[in-house]
Amino acid sequence: MVLNFAHRGSLTEAPENTIPAFEKAIDRGAKGLELDVQLTKDDKLVVSHDHTFKRHNKDVEGRIRDFSLEEIRQIDVGSSFGKQFAGLTLPTLDEVLAIAPNDLHLNIEIKNIPVIYDGIEEILLACLSDNHRLDHVIISSFDHVALKKVQDQNADIPLGMLFYYRPLNAWDYVTRSGLNIRSIHPHHVYTDRNFVENCKALGYEVYPFTVNATERYAELLDYGVDGVFSNNPEIFDK
Ligand code: G3P
Ligand code: CA
Repeated sequence: MVLNFAHRGSLTEAPENTIPAFEKAIDRGAKGLELDVQLTKDDKLVVSHDHTFKRHNKDVEGRIRDFSLEEIRQIDVGSSFGKQFAGLTLPTLDEVLAIAPNDLHLNIEIKNIPVIYDGIEEILLACLSDNHRLDHVIISSFDHVALKKVQDQNADIPLGMLFYYRPLNAWDYVTRSGLNIRSIHPHHVYTDRNFVENCKALGYEVYPFTVNATERYAELLDYGVDGVFSNNPEIFDK
C-alpha cells in the first residue's frame, strides 16, 4: 500500500497548515496529512511551518515563542493567501486532531530549528494521549535529538527520521542511532533506487519530500518508496 501525505494540508487551495487546508485535503481523499508543530510562549502546541509570522503576515514581528496562544488567536494568517481567508489564525494541534478522522494517518513534524523548544516532546505526547490519537501517527523531525526524547518517553510511537542535505549512507546512520525508527524521510532530489533499496533492506519505510511532479512521483514509486509528501492534490489523493 502506498501512503501519501498532503504536505501542510492542501496548501495550494488554502493557507498551509490551517484547518481549511486540512479539510480540503481530507475532502480530496488524502489518506495522510503532514503538519508541523511549534510552541507558544505559554507552551501550547500550534501548527506552523515557520517560527515567525513573516511569510503570512508581514505586519507581525517576533516569533511564535514570543506570543501566548491568546495573542496568536488575534493574528491573521489567512489574508495573504486570499481575502476569503481573512481572520484565519494558526490552529492548535488539538483543533487539527478534532477534525481528523481516526483512520487518517498523521505525520507530525517537530520543528526544533532554529528555535529549540525544550519539552515539546512531552507536550506533544500528552496531547496525542489526551486526544486518544496515538495510532496512525508518525512523529518526525530533522532534530534527531528530539526523536530520541520522544522515544525515551514512549518507546512504541513510530518515528520518522528526516534528512534535508544528502547524507552518507543514511540507512547506516539510522541503524547506529539506536532509535526505533520506522521510516526515513529524505529530500526527494537525492532519493534514488540505491537509497531506497538500502533503507528497505534494513526494514525502514521511505517517504521522500516534497514531491510535486507526477513524473518524479512515478519514478520514486518504481524505486519502491512507501509514499511521499506532496503539495499536489493529484498525488496526495492517491
Ligand atoms: O515532513 C516532510 C517535510 O515537510 C519536511 O520539510 O521544510 O516542508 O517541513 P519542510
Ligand atoms: Ca514539515
